[in-house]
Amino acid sequence: MSKEKFYITTPLYYVNSSPHIGHSYTNIAADCLARYMRQRLGKENVWYLTGTDEHGQKIQKAADASGLSAQDFTDKIVVQFKELWAKLNVPYDDFIRTTEKRHVDFVRRAIQILYDKGDIVEGKYEGWYCTPCETFWLDSQVADKTCPDCKRALERISETNYFFKLSKYQDWLVKYIESDKNFIRPVSRYNEVLSFLKNNKLADLCISRPKARLSWGIELPFSGDHVIYVWFDALLNYISAVGEFDAKNKYVSKWWPASLHLMAKDILRQHAVYWPIMLKSLDIPMPKAIFAHGWWMVGESKMSKSLGNVISPVEMSDKYGIDVYRYFLLRDMPFGLDGTFSEDSLIKRFNSDLANDLGNLVYRTLTMAEKYFNAEVPDAAQEPGQQEKVIREKLAKLPGEISLELRAEADFNFSACLERIWELIAMANKYVEEIKPWNLAKENKTDDLKAFIRLLVDVIRGVALSLAPFMPNTAESILEQIGAEKINKGKPLFPRIDTKPAGK
Ligand code: MSP
Repeated sequence: MSKEKFYITTPLYYVNSSPHIGHSYTNIAADCLARYMRQRLGKENVWYLTGTDEHGQKIQKAADASGLSAQDFTDKIVVQFKELWAKLNVPYDDFIRTTEKRHVDFVRRAIQILYDKGDIVEGKYEGWYCTPCETFWLDSQVADKTCPDCKRALERISETNYFFKLSKYQDWLVKYIESDKNFIRPVSRYNEVLSFLKNNKLADLCISRPKARLSWGIELPFSGDHVIYVWFDALLNYISAVGEFDAKNKYVSKWWPASLHLMAKDILRQHAVYWPIMLKSLDIPMPKAIFAHGWWMVGESKMSKSLGNVISPVEMSDKYGIDVYRYFLLRDMPFGLDGTFSEDSLIKRFNSDLANDLGNLVYRTLTMAEKYFNAEVPDAAQEPGQQEKVIREKLAKLPGEISLELRAEADFNFSACLERIWELIAMANKYVEEIKPWNLAKENKTDDLKAFIRLLVDVIRGVALSLAPFMPNTAESILEQIGAEKINKGKPLFPRIDTKPAGK
């Protein structure tokens, strides 16, 4: 029997500007899942792919504005993405740039296959084009010469191009989506895509750009006058990075099909409509799931470079700590919904969840182990009482609770996982307050005290193990402090942030 594998992808980010909190959110969420799956399946059975989308008009314009060549410009920005993933503790197994030879060669081969089988044809295009979105619009979709998505001015264009026959596969796609409720998640997005497909006739997709208008792209193998539309090029990364076509044009890969394509809702259409049809036409199996999460907003608007309201992930993680930043993103916004980013909410969560609850539990437990048992973790010398039993039951149940929440069917509910972990932390803190260990010590109830400390140390270990995919450094530090033989208490993990104005 073949062993289960987990192949997860993030979007390939445009390198027209520096990464912001929104980009970091997707990669941190993907990292959390990858770490969790590595714990379950072993490192060798998990593959995490990320990278950058480097062709197209948007990048060309940004490069022109910076005075650099497109290649030099992308070489410069890509470093910021790689540095950010290193900083945020988001290791990847592969980082693909769409300008790399391995990708370019693969895309040309794939597109030739589609052309040879007649799914790409030449035609005339007349209509509207939104450069920032890199999207075509039909007359019927445009009301006032502005982009229906971003509301910026459209350009009128008329040119010879190549078209991919999306329409040929529309009925197939509807049936496919209906056959698998988990193919697109969350269910609101599933319904949205299905209703779009049922109520609209798909227009064939223009997959080329005349070189006269744009040269920064992959040249079409069957027309020296055109480059490939950036989306058509970029989507293929998910297969170009992990496999190849054999002599009979059959795609072979150790990792495909992907277990999960992760992204935000802004690019669901391309992933849930174009991409499955491209794969179908290439005779390649479908990915197992496509998940579109929500947006981080600032006030009423989506955080985005073009709106000029971005917050830097480097600044936030430098100011509050990497794990605190990761915790806030994964805890505060239910995966799939939108949320508002604010430093005030981050500080509130820091002080209550991290300083008061987790930090306090670890610190007070280790302090007591030092004080009462010379930093050695005692064995429990007696049968547990009712309260201990309840806590131990919750501790034993926790991994199962997390595995239920981290499934596609549960929409990868990171926030709920953290809530489950914090339930145990709250039970343990309440237990300390009720047992009043200082009284046990005074009354020389050594066996009770031993059982008490043993239980708390076991809880902390369980919390650290469950928390590892979310807050890897914190988990490691807790496990180090507990030690195998002896407690090795460090400084408090999360000293409170004082929110009182100075002087009060
Ligand atoms: N290059 C395309 C993707 C091609 S994938 C084959 C692209 N790039 S992007 O740089 O615009 O990145 C979009 C993605 O960044 C979103 O789908 C999401 O993963 C992330 N986010 C960007 N802004 C975001 C928020 N404000 N909030 C949450 N995620 C955001 O589209």
